[in-house]
Formats: sequence, structure tokens, C-alpha cells
Amino acid sequence: MDIARIREAIPVTRNLVYMNTGWSGPSPQRVTQRINDQLAYEMERGPATLDALPRSRAVHEELSRAVAGLLHAPEESIALTQSTTHGLVTVVNGLDWRAGDEVVTCSLEHPSVLLPSLLLQKSHGVRVRIADLDPQDDKATLLSKLEAQLSPRTRLVFLSHIQFSNGLRLPAREVAQMAHRRGAFLLLDGAQCAGQIALDMGEMDCDFYAMPGHKWLMGPDGTGALYLRPELIPQVAPRYPAHGAVESWDVATGAVTLQTASPRKFRLSTTSTALEAGMAEAIAFQQELGSHEIEARAMALAARLMRTLKSIPGLRLTCPEDPELGSALVTFAVAGKEPRQVVEMLWGRGIAARQVPTPPAVRLCTAFFNTEEEVERVGAVLAELAGSA
Ligand SMILES: Cc1ncc(COP(=O)(O)O)c(C=O)c1O
Repeated sequence: MDIARIREAIPVTRNLVYMNTGWSGPSPQRVTQRINDQLAYEMERGPATLDALPRSRAVHEELSRAVAGLLHAPEESIALTQSTTHGLVTVVNGLDWRAGDEVVTCSLEHPSVLLPSLLLQKSHGVRVRIADLDPQDDKATLLSKLEAQLSPRTRLVFLSHIQFSNGLRLPAREVAQMAHRRGAFLLLDGAQCAGQIALDMGEMDCDFYAMPGHKWLMGPDGTGALYLRPELIPQVAPRYPAHGAVESWDVATGAVTLQTASPRKFRLSTTSTALEAGMAEAIAFQQELGSHEIEARAMALAARLMRTLKSIPGLRLTCPEDPELGSALVTFAVAGKEPRQVVEMLWGRGIAARQVPTPPAVRLCTAFFNTEEEVERVGAVLAELAGSA
């Protein structure tokens, strides 16, 4: 990878050390340009003309194709969404729940996983079973803790593929097999994965996978996608039905023929062509670099950062060190300092980070566009901060 050239295409790299891609990734210049071009077209040529409408449809199709390529999934398995959470809730609220059904999730989860699960308890009498995972658990322990929560009543195993608070990467394929042995579906939250690691839906054997456009893919806020195993689409009802949700209807008789097998049924009415164009451009940018190459570089930078942090007295890693279970989300606590204080101190030195809750820590994301020099600079600043307790 020609990192100098790549960084020239990502303006933020000229201004600061950006290590908060897990919250929102900085867009390459060409992504913002594509959004601007579409908005300018709509302003000058009109947004809903006989020329503009097919242009919007073409962008929508381009994005569906791009997501399908990124996930190694068929195009008819992709629904475009406005965020990860939108995709997750589409599945959770679209399944046909019965009282006594069970959802299995874990104690480290993001609210976008926990809250829709917990709300099912109230709305449908579903029981939520929570595996008490520790980011330092080994793979066998993680799997056996999850297995212990499964039962013949489990309908859905619902987990983040990579945990936002500590970077733990769950063994997706093994979890999918475990869920399927019990006749349950697996819904994965891929918020921290798309654009960070190489993904292949067939290989993972996952049933539903939700992702954003704005984090590691570095596209605009307000974009995302949901993969649904094609044969399961009929089992997920559209809870916000717009015209894509039906094949035909008759006002006189009230007859409605539902769209069953197409992910079009989840599409809300009007979406932003400009943002969809931006996400498509962001995926194209990354596909030119290669998903495996992107993942390898992010992981190498994370390993380097972990080595640096471990050598600083008073710093303790809270993320997994085993690369199989870890990711490019590096988290750590500083003795005698609140994570918030450390984040503010880093920001005072031009380094963008965030605090995370489970366990309380500071999070630094090493994206492919970050550099070894940036990692060393962050290490030097933290050594100074840790020494000034
Ligand atoms: C694991 C996880 N899930 C869900 C979300 C929310 O993502 P979105 O804003 O795309 O709904 C985040 C955002 O940080 C996340 O890290």
C-alpha cells in the first residue's frame, strides 16, 4: 500500500492524528466530492425529473452491488439502510416472536444490541439471556459461555461481531454453527467490522448482518446496509411499510399482495441519493485497496500500538492481545486517571480518541490510513501523561 498517496486522498490526515474511526471515519476527498456533485446536480437540474429519477435508481443499484461485493453476498440479499441500528431493528422487530422465545446476547454489548433485545421482553414476553463475557477470555471460554445460554427456546443469537468497548472479535463462524445446531438465527452487528476486516457472508454462515457506511468504510453519516440470508427474507416482516413492501394493492377491495422475498420491502420511502452515492464511492475507494490488505495493515498497526502501550508503566490494556480475538480497536486504562481526562489530554495534543464503558477505558482505532509514526507519537504522549499522575 502506498500510504503517502492514500493519506493525500484523506484530508484529515494533514491536520490531526485521527484514531476515532470506530465512531465515525474521515471521508476521502472523492467521497465528499461525489456527495457534493449529486447535490449540485439536484440543485441545478432538479431532483425529480425524467433524467434525475433513473440517475437516482442507478446510484441505489450501484450501492447495493457495491455492498454485495464487499460482503461477498448476492445482491438480492442486501437492503440499504440509514445506519447499523436501523438494520438491526429491522430484523429484531420483523421476526414473528412468541412469548417464551429466547434471545441470547452478552454483557459487553452496545446499546443498539441490548436495547432492542430488552424491549422484546416487554412487547412480546421474550426472555433475554445474557452471557457474561470477558474481553480477556480465550476462544473456548467465550464459546462455552455463549453455549451455556442457549436452549431449545433460543430463536436468535444477537451479538456484535467486534465489540465497540474493547475490540473483542467473536469467532463468527463458530457462533453461527452453535446457533444453527439449536435451530436459532444469528444476527451480527457489524458496526465495527465493515471496512475494518474482510467479510464473507457465505464463509461466516451468518443469517443477518447489519453495517454502517460511516465508520470504517469512511462514507457519510446516515448510510448503512443489512444482509439477510435470501431464504429468510420472507420471515422478516417490514415494520415501516412503504411502497416497496407490497407487490400490488387494490383500494376498492382492500386487497394487498405483499412483497415477500425481495429486500426492497424494507426500503423507506425517500432516501438521499447524495449520501448513497457517497457510500458507494467510499466502498469503491476501499475495494481498490483490498479488504484483506486493509485489515492486515490495521491489525499490524494495532499490534504495534499494543506493544508500545504495554511498555508504559501505569497503562493496562483492556482489549484482547490474541490477534484472532482482537481487532484494530485498542483499549486501555491509565492508573489514577479517568478515561475522559485522558481523551481530553490526547485531544489537547491533536489526537482524536474516545472513552468507552465496558470496561471503562480509552479507545484508539488504528485504521489503515494511520501510520507507524502516529502510533509512536501517541505512545510518547501517553508515556508523558502516565508519568504525570
Ligand atoms: C457495535 C456497535 N453497534 C451499533 C453502533 C451504532 O451504529 P449506527 O450509528 O450505525 O447505528 C455502534 C456505534 O458506535 C457500534 O459500535
